[in-house]
Amino acid sequence: MTDKMNAAWSALETLETGVNDRHMLNLFEVDASRADTFQCTAGDILLDYSKTNIDGAAKTALLALAEAANVTERRAAMFGGAVINETEGRAVLHTALRNLDGDPVLVDGADVMPEVHATLSRMGDYADLVRSSGITDVINIGIGGSDLGPAMAVMALSPYHDGPSVHFVSNIDGADVSDTLRGLDAKTTLVIVASKTFGTIETMTNARTARAWMLENGGKPDEQFAALSTSEERTAAFGIPAERVFGFEDWVGGRYSMWGPIGLSLMIGIGREAFTAFLRGGQAMDTHFCAAEGAENMPLMHALVGIWHNQICGHATRAVLPYDQRLGLLPAYFQQLEMESNGKSVAMDGAQLPRHSGPVVWGEPGTNGQHAFYQLIHQGTRVIPCEFMVAAEGHEPDLTHHHQLLVANCLAQSEALMRGRSLDEAREIMAAKGLTGDELERQAAHRVFAGNRPSVTIVYPKLDPFVLGQIISLYEHRVFVEGIILGLNSYDQWGVELGKELATALEPVVAGTQSADDKDGSTRGLVDYVQRHRA
Ligand code: F6P
Repeated sequence: MTDKMNAAWSALETLETGVNDRHMLNLFEVDASRADTFQCTAGDILLDYSKTNIDGAAKTALLALAEAANVTERRAAMFGGAVINETEGRAVLHTALRNLDGDPVLVDGADVMPEVHATLSRMGDYADLVRSSGITDVINIGIGGSDLGPAMAVMALSPYHDGPSVHFVSNIDGADVSDTLRGLDAKTTLVIVASKTFGTIETMTNARTARAWMLENGGKPDEQFAALSTSEERTAAFGIPAERVFGFEDWVGGRYSMWGPIGLSLMIGIGREAFTAFLRGGQAMDTHFCAAEGAENMPLMHALVGIWHNQICGHATRAVLPYDQRLGLLPAYFQQLEMESNGKSVAMDGAQLPRHSGPVVWGEPGTNGQHAFYQLIHQGTRVIPCEFMVAAEGHEPDLTHHHQLLVANCLAQSEALMRGRSLDEAREIMAAKGLTGDELERQAAHRVFAGNRPSVTIVYPKLDPFVLGQIISLYEHRVFVEGIILGLNSYDQWGVELGKELATALEPVVAGTQSADDKDGSTRGLVDYVQRHRA
């Protein structure tokens, strides 16, 4: 780590001392226009981070950290096609997939844009064909980045869905494929096998099961299977003809891949025009990310707020709380995006990270979460920074009163987290209920909210394809900036390998064709239990 970086971290750590005692309400008292200063806009999206304990000095120090980390240079390297995924020797160019009318993008001296546009156009033609050919159902079989993105977006954009029904199968658990196939007509179903490597065991097992089902039930797998992959050899070996294979290059990481062929199921669902609007939203955020200066830059500030909460204040988790029922899969999508990207212990140069890696990301849509886990967020002993999201307008014109209540709940939560309720206020409430003495004291103590709990709020006009594209691109760049500042490679995922290897080795042991003798006592006992209890 450079001296400049060390100095920037130290400056922040010094500022952190005593920061937890500083109440945000005091920050608003000192600076009544704080909300105007501690926010950014990108297009019509607003990010408000004024309900945090970041003050002017902290903001300046955070921006200095970004500068010391060379975020601007690293950003240019990423967009310019440099090999920034150093442990896999790859460029990182998912941004090229939404570079609809931008400049050439060079990888090894060759412009990749003609191929990107040609594939997009083939996808559009194929989507049009599927949408007009009597196909009633599409099943995307994929996992991780080959599932979460399109599944999240299909749900998010359901008001724009005018194509065949789209289903997703990901889990190796036979329940997933079996529950999905039940009730579908094999003659009018299209199966899309989505796998960057076309070697992932879950996906290939499910694909073979779906193919057998189709054959048994009068469908024609030769015509009703398509593939999304970087491996032409493997798709051909599976028997999917080249005209129904939509390829992409290894510079598109799995969890960043929904902008290209992996988004085909979404495109079939909402049509090529709406899909293009989604790409345009992503591209608009790219333009903002490359052009906006310092504190005006939304992905940069979003990342710096995250660094402040996790690495400086020590809050290990982050709750993503969309007040948008159709963003129900967004927390899971962000979980992969952030935790697979920045959940690492080793810096790019192989040294141990001197600070914690990225945060644990989790969440659920509001208002449901309010009636489940918000208790801990408000009164638990740990501080959990929250990220609220809400649209100014819903898609249900007859139900605007629902939407008003939704927005009111979202804003009330961030207000409650900041404001809290003091012991004196709790005592007053109990006294008004007629309690006195020890009982009043006891009951009041349970009704105290510490307050001063941080949150950011993202508001957007309406969840349409363009806005969804902006939001996803915002988070991708936020993860990128956090990764640069932490000094790690956000684009590999070696941490998933060991479990995969051991699962492959354990399969014959579970099946009983191989002995469990070389396993540890716990694993042996668990295998023994399964073998004794299955029919
Ligand atoms: O196991 C993790 C992972 O490699 C993810 O990074 C990826 O999104 C997922 O598996 C699926 O991989 P593939 O698209 O190659 O099937």
